[in-house]
Amino acid sequence: LIAVAVAGAAGRMGLTVCQAVEEAPDMELVGGADPRLGIGVERVIAECAPDVLVDFTQPDTALQNTLTCVDAGVHVVVGTTGFDLDAMLDELRSAARARQGSPTANVLVAPNFAIGAVLMMRFAAEAARHMQSAEIVELHHDAKLDAPSGTAVRTAQLMADAGGGEPPKIHSVRLPGLVAHQEVILGDLGQTLTIRHDTIGREAFMPGVLLAVRAVGTLVRSPVVGLEQLLFS
Ligand SMILES: NC(=O)c1ccc[n+]([C@@H]2O[C@H](COP(=O)([O-])OP(=O)(O)OC[C@H]3O[C@@H](n4cnc5c(N)ncnc54)[C@H](O)[C@@H]3O)[C@@H](O)[C@H]2O)c1
Repeated sequence: LIAVAVAGAAGRMGLTVCQAVEEAPDMELVGGADPRLGIGVERVIAECAPDVLVDFTQPDTALQNTLTCVDAGVHVVVGTTGFDLDAMLDELRSAARARQGSPTANVLVAPNFAIGAVLMMRFAAEAARHMQSAEIVELHHDAKLDAPSGTAVRTAQLMADAGGGEPPKIHSVRLPGLVAHQEVILGDLGQTLTIRHDTIGREAFMPGVLLAVRAVGTLVRSPVVGLEQLLFS
């Protein structure tokens, strides 16, 4: 069994991940960290000895949690968004260089674990190669801390990489009643193409999270960004 701990265990995503791990036949939920439970990541690592920690916390805590895990030899799956991803990747690489020879652990970061959203990003990147211009509209529940969403930023980057030119402009909508939704609208002479993904419930993210938990320990390189690295390569 893969021993899994969850950071942000009292949050909306963390609770859903705890339940999914408990229901997975090949995993065991060994602990949860959250200030709301009075338990930190260090204590969970020391007392519960997880193989993998899944982080769904806040933009200002994900990096420190990840570094703490890697230092302790615990693999990390990061779902938190809204932090500077390039800064995290730089920190992880320099920490790995400083740690030469001692035990190491892998990191997988994904701004969106919903497989439909990963497909949306892939199709949007493909479409960006053929259409003149595009804009992204992302819509989320009003408790989301970051704007624009990590998914929108990543979509824009993938589209710019594929099509050349500037990343598309992103519009953010925050309203009660929404979960997580994104539309990529591409325009060209006399036509538009809309690619839309709707997350109706948080369970949408769970197959992707469990896939990442199963894979993170055997990655041939680390850190890895994006669930697409596991789905399409
Ligand atoms: N990658 C994805 O597919 C995906 C999907 C949905 C949400 N998210 C992201 O996941 C994150 C969490 O979203 P949420 O809706 O569950 O938020 P939430 O506010 O409901 O939960 C966050 C939890 O993290 C806890 N926390 C804060 N600091 C912590 C620390 N240092 N250690 C451990 N726990 C800590 C908070 O107390 C809270 O309970 C956000 O960044 C959100 O954008 C990602």
